[in-house]
Order: sequence, then structure tokens, then C-alpha cells
Amino acid sequence: MGIEVVVDGLTKSFGRQNIWQNVSLTLPAGEVSVMLGPSGTGKTVFLKSIIGLLKPEQGRVLINGVDMVNSPEREIMETRKLFGLMFQDGALFGSMSLFDNIAFPLREHTRKKESEIRRIVMERIDIVGLLGAEGKLPGEISGGMRKRAGLARALVLDPQIILCDEPDSGLDPVRTAYLSQLLIDLNAQIDATMLIVTHNLDIAATVPDNMGMLFCRNLVTFGPREVLLTSEVPVVAQFLAGRREGPIGMSEEKDAATLAAEQVNGGGAGAGPRTVVPQLEPSPGMPVRQAALRRRERVAAMMGQLPQAARTAILNSYTPTAGGARP
Ligand SMILES: Nc1ncnc2c1ncn2[C@@H]1O[C@H](COP(=O)(O)OP(=O)(O)OP(=O)(O)O)[C@@H](O)[C@H]1O
Ligand SMILES: [Mg+2]
Repeated sequence: MGIEVVVDGLTKSFGRQNIWQNVSLTLPAGEVSVMLGPSGTGKTVFLKSIIGLLKPEQGRVLINGVDMVNSPEREIMETRKLFGLMFQDGALFGSMSLFDNIAFPLREHTRKKESEIRRIVMERIDIVGLLGAEGKLPGEISGGMRKRAGLARALVLDPQIILCDEPDSGLDPVRTAYLSQLLIDLNAQIDATMLIVTHNLDIAATVPDNMGMLFCRNLVTFGPREVLLTSEVPVVAQFLAGRREGPIGMSEEKDAATLAAEQVNGGGAGAGPRTVVPQLEPSPGMPVRQAALRRRERVAAMMGQLPQAARTAILNSYTPTAGGARP
């Protein structure tokens, strides 16, 4: 099963520009989490910090006892092998076939024989629904196919932690829905810990077990999906409703004075109670998501500290609906 990722008091700046400060959260083992946040709030920087490619000035990222910020580089490199990464743009090599692109990490990081590589690559190509396209160049396929090829490549080294940076960017709503289902099916099959950065409200509403949001150099909140989906915190409510009114402005973030004025004027209020749509279930024939079972216990233990609206939404999600029984 996946591995827990503990982020503890992380602060990152570039020169004098502070990106975020004192970010702490735990990605529970094998669960799916989403990180939201307006453009430029440092979501990609956050992912890069988790794998140790960027070094925050303060804090720790603990994975199996290795600190991806401060441990010796050799240990960080070793731990990085646990990760599968899916980049914002797919990041495929344009001159290589999909097969060679997806085989690349295996050829680079393992000494497997070509026959074994072929078996693994074709299996992953099958999982993401690209059988038959393996001989094509990235330029010859659609954006959605490139995304799935990027996901297949992220999967070849049997990752226990998968980081996806805007897997939906450039996809139409239908393809995004298929991708959401693919992520959940994948989670059911390999039980890897997943962190997805996205702006897509449908993914946010239907895919994750947990959700967080970066805004104004801070982690606004991180917790069970129902906490954010029912949150009355103005920036969260505004973002999830996709409204202009509220603390989030056109140029990434409204400045401090505008923000203060907004709050005085009650910006962000007025949307009324929001309904929480059910989380996606694995497709028929897929195994039960072990993470969903573990999460149920984990959330039960923290129920007492959750806001009432979140508690109600969680309890409702356990009630069988016309759509089928919940796990
Ligand atoms: N290597 C770097 N050197 C200097 N500044 C950087 C570097 N990488 C990112 N930044 C800055 O950090 C801030 C956050 O960037 P980041 O790419 O993490 O935003 P994001 O939340 O992923 O945005 P988007 O939703 O548009 O992808 C930006 O102001 C960016 O200019
Ligand atoms: Mg980004």
C-alpha cells in the first residue's frame, strides 16, 4: 500500500519572494488528495519540494523516515524512486514513440531486459487505454492521449506515491471525466498515495479523499474532502463556486487592502449551503479501494473536531443511495 507523506512546517522563498510559509499536512497512505489554489500560489513548487527537487528554507518532508529537504542527497535520490510524476504538460520526448517514452524510466533507472520492459510498458499502456497507439509520436496524438501517456510513464516504476500536476489542463469535460475515473481506478488497483494539483472543480468535487488549498502564501486548510466542499471560509467558497466575488482577484491574489475591504463587505458570503456530490467509485470489476476503507476509520476518529456541515456530509456519504451502495 502507499506511503504516508508528512509535510511539516514547510516555508519556501525565491530570493525575497516568499511563496508559502509554514505549510503542514499529512497525505494519508494510499489516499487520493487534491491541492487547489489560484495560479501562482506555488502548487507546482510544492510538488517539487515534496520530491526534493526544490529546497524549502524551513521544514521537513518525511517519507519512510527520509527528510526530502534535509537528508543526504543519496537518501533523497533513493526515496525519489518511490514516486511517479505526471507533469503539467505531459513532458514527453517529441522524437520518441509513446512506447519509448513510457519505457524511458525503465531503461534509465533499471537493468531490466527488453522483454521485461516490453511487458511492463504494454501493461501500463493498457491501463491508461492507449493500446494500439504505442508506435505513435507525441505530435501525432491528441492532448488527452498525451496526458494518459504521461500517466502511463509515471506508472512504470511501480510508484507508491503519485504526483499529478494539472492532469486535466487542456482536456475537454468528457475527457476530464474519463481521467477522473482513471485516477480512481488506478488508486483501487495499486493503492498508491496520490496528490493531484488541479483547477478543475469537477475533479476536486469527485476524485479526492482529502483536499487542501493554497492561498496568499498559506495553506488555507487541508482535510477530508467534505471539509473543503462545505467550507464557509471565503476564499475556499469562492474558489469552489468559481465566483468573482471574494478575496481572490484577477491578478492571482487581490492586494492586502482590497482583501481587507472585501472582508469588511462580507465578500464570499451569499452562496448558500452547498451540496456535496458523491465521490467516484472504482469501475465495475475493479478491486475495492482499500484507501476508502482506511479513510473511513481515520475520519471516524476525527469526527469530533470537524465542522457540523462536514460531519453531516460525511455521514450522508455512508448512506446507500440510488446510485449504488457505498463501500
Ligand atoms: N525556479 C524558480 N525560481 C524563481 N521563482 C520561481 C521558480 N519556480 C517558481 N517560481 C515562482 O513561484 C511562484 C509559484 O509558482 P508555481 O509554478 O508553483 O505556481 P502554481 O501554483 O503551480 O501556478 P499554476 O496554477 O499557474 O500552475 C511563481 O511566482 C513563480 O514565478
Ligand atoms: Mg503549476
